[in-house]
Amino acid sequence: MRIPLSKPHIPKKVFENINEVLSSGKLSGDGFFCHSAEEKFRNKLKIKNALLTSSCTHALEMSMLLLDAKENDEVILPSFTFTSTANAVLVAGLKPIFCEIDPQTMNMDMNDVAKKITHKTKAIIPVHYAGVACDMESLFSLCEGQNIMIVEDAAHGIGAKWKGKSLGTIGHMGTLSFHDTKNVICGEGGAFLTNNEFLADKAQIIREKGTNRSQFLRGQVDKYTWVEKGSSYILAEPLAAILSAEIDIMDELNAKRGVIHNYYMEQLHDLEQKEILALPKIPHYCDSNYHLFYIILKNEDARNSLMSYLRARGIGATFHYIPLHSAPAGECLGYKKEHLPITEEYSKRLLRLPLFPDLIQDDYSYVVEEIFNWSKTI
Ligand SMILES: Cc1ncc(COP(=O)(O)O)c(C=O)c1O
Repeated sequence: MRIPLSKPHIPKKVFENINEVLSSGKLSGDGFFCHSAEEKFRNKLKIKNALLTSSCTHALEMSMLLLDAKENDEVILPSFTFTSTANAVLVAGLKPIFCEIDPQTMNMDMNDVAKKITHKTKAIIPVHYAGVACDMESLFSLCEGQNIMIVEDAAHGIGAKWKGKSLGTIGHMGTLSFHDTKNVICGEGGAFLTNNEFLADKAQIIREKGTNRSQFLRGQVDKYTWVEKGSSYILAEPLAAILSAEIDIMDELNAKRGVIHNYYMEQLHDLEQKEILALPKIPHYCDSNYHLFYIILKNEDARNSLMSYLRARGIGATFHYIPLHSAPAGECLGYKKEHLPITEEYSKRLLRLPLFPDLIQDDYSYVVEEIFNWSKTI
């Protein structure tokens, strides 16, 4: 594709950090760059504990292992999400309960969540799609007085806010992704966030193969040993070195995305007026990080027609998320397409357009021009 869907921005400082880490001879996790990046996240996001992980997938798995749940306890999550959100639930031996989305934001529909809460509900995972916050106020009131943990999947959400609070820091636990396609990247990486010290201590043990190695490195115990169940979820130093440089320019990168996002919004407004497409809505309680830009077409045929039209012209437009409930693994859990009709419909109508910090104006205006050209063909 001449214009890809997304492309990471790599600042010069990354190369300096990589040289430094390679010369240091310390490449495993929990080293200088890991600590430096974690401190930057604590300060920037205003969170007490930020632990770097090898991916958001792994941070989600850690969160589910931390629930202290019984087998078959339930976790509510949207079907419109990446496989990792549901896999984490299964890896911990829990039961995923899929809920509908609100087509205004593609985030979980709190009315449907309300219907799905039972005495078995152990946790709810709000996924902040496209870096736009879920309706956390409604979620908190649904969970009030009940022993339900809120674990935010903020894979898309670095730097975005809900009522002034950073996504990932609002619930009991939160997770971030630094995969190549995200706003802040290190190739593959993630973070586990919590303000709860008890959970943070346990998370460090899970992240370090079930050992108290982190306490040992802090000089709190004189040798480290196996203390409970765990895995290997720590981020290696070379990746932390990339991340440490990326965090410093996060606001600048998000602002560049914002310019392109707003351009698409303004330029495509006419087509929304003509009901050819619908534009995303950002609720008043949210400051977006403009992670991605999507439009909703009238139906699946129109979406596929525009997608092929743009691709034939070198523009990497694409769909997003095949609903989990109707994927083969979802069907094995007993779900059928018709259980979540809104998710089914809107995932077929959604089309993502190229958006990344180094996308130049000539290219994003070309994307808009070609969408208008396509609209004349229908
Ligand atoms: C909503 C959501 N959650 C989790 C993930 C997994 O992130 P990672 O690739 O860092 O494991 C993704 C990946 O894009 C995602 O979109």
